[in-house]
Amino acid sequence: MPARAPPPDEVSTLIRQNRELNEQVKQLVRAERQLYLSRREVERQLGRTHALNRFALEAGGASEPGEILRALSEMLAGLFPFEQGLGLLVQGGRLVPAAVFALPGREGKGEEELSGRAIALDRAFADELPSPRVLSEPAARKELPRSGPLLDLLSHFFCERAGCPVQPGVVLWLPLWRKPGELAGLLLMRKAKEETTFHCELPADRDSFLEVAARHAAAAVSNALLLDDLKRSYGTLERTQAELVAKERLAAVGELAAVMAHEVRNPLGVVFNSLGSLRKLLGDVRDGAALLDMMEEEADRLDRIVGDLLDFARPKPPNLLPEALEPIIFGAIETARRAVPNRGVDFQVEVRGLGAVVMDSRMIRQALVNLLINAVQALPRGGRVRVLASEEARGGEPFARIEVSDDGPGIPSESAMRLFEPFFTTKASGTGLGLAVVRRFVEAHQGEVAVETSPERGTTFRVLIPVGRG
Ligand SMILES: Nc1ncnc2c1ncn2[C@@H]1O[C@H](COP(=O)(O)OP(=O)(O)O)[C@@H](O)[C@H]1O
Ligand SMILES: [Mg+2]
Repeated sequence: MPARAPPPDEVSTLIRQNRELNEQVKQLVRAERQLYLSRREVERQLGRTHALNRFALEAGGASEPGEILRALSEMLAGLFPFEQGLGLLVQGGRLVPAAVFALPGREGKGEEELSGRAIALDRAFADELPSPRVLSEPAARKELPRSGPLLDLLSHFFCERAGCPVQPGVVLWLPLWRKPGELAGLLLMRKAKEETTFHCELPADRDSFLEVAARHAAAAVSNALLLDDLKRSYGTLERTQAELVAKERLAAVGELAAVMAHEVRNPLGVVFNSLGSLRKLLGDVRDGAALLDMMEEEADRLDRIVGDLLDFARPKPPNLLPEALEPIIFGAIETARRAVPNRGVDFQVEVRGLGAVVMDSRMIRQALVNLLINAVQALPRGGRVRVLASEEARGGEPFARIEVSDDGPGIPSESAMRLFEPFFTTKASGTGLGLAVVRRFVEAHQGEVAVETSPERGTTFRVLIPVGRG
């Protein structure tokens, strides 16, 4: 029996049902896809939130801006396919060294070299890139001409540094803040021509997550900088307080020294006069001259102590005039020789290519006398004392360098730290003021004094003062 064709209205029902089914399947696929995308988005957001929390914890405990920028770049490199990070902290127009780094495992040479580079990141550049941007290299150069120096820096860091010939392809610029002369930000890079995958995508340009991360990091970095500032201010305050106390103490000592000088020097004057008269009176009396010599030596010593105390406690401003050093050195040697007679000491003087030096000759002479007396006293069994004067350039300025060396036993390290302290002495009849006066006089000339000492090579005091030819 031939098949009977279904009635026309049954056909149309079937077609309709088929269409509906088709539509339902399509909707189901769409819903499934939506669900998959939503789940992926939720996972992504969760991952980002976790990462951000971890970063916030880490950054909150960090005290160095560099550490914070490093943690930020590590966090972002964990979420997005970037290969190299470069934290930038520019202050006063210069890169702050601590903030230059590579991601772990990608360190190379050049970090120090880079950190000293001044980069011309002007305001216009910062205005060009005020918010997070994902840039591709060639396009960025064309679109954002001001970012040239930044991209050059990147090429240097990313390519030359890591020894890879590939240019950076994609760059993420994440600014933290910008003020005149100041800029903080993070650069993350990815090599050119590398494909991203569905699971490993670059962030979208102007992704709000990047803004949130940048705000967190900016707060942490500015906190760290504030803390650092605070610590520095406390340090300065402590130093100023200590200086103030020292100044007050010095002023009191100065008063005392002035009174004492007056009280001691008047009777000393009488002693000196009487010694002169006695010398005439005694004439050739046996042993008389020797006794008088001894008295005169001791009176001289007393006079020197009072002088040292005055020099130390009431320093006058230096009276600066250009003078030759050589006669001052010889004069100082003569005084030292008389002050500590020690027959076994051989003095050597060498002055190399040094013209007139602008100085207070009385002060420099006294400083040399003090150094020479110490040197001779360090050689009770004789030895050699050398004075070497020469010119030395420092930061483009000429300095006179005067070295006083002895081949004595050197200075033990526990004393070496305290040498310049007033009243520090290891000698039974020392005042401990000689080196304190040396330092005071040298510093009055904007100079510096240093010591090098060892048991084998003896002791060398090195004085540097500006030649000051104008
Ligand atoms: N050339 C030197 N060799 C060894 N010790 C030295 C030398 N110069 C200084 N000193 C040490 O530094 C101390 C302080 O020196 P100074 O301030 O001149 O005071 P004083 O000579 O009155 O002791 C000395 O007591 C001595 O211990
Ligand atoms: Mg001395």
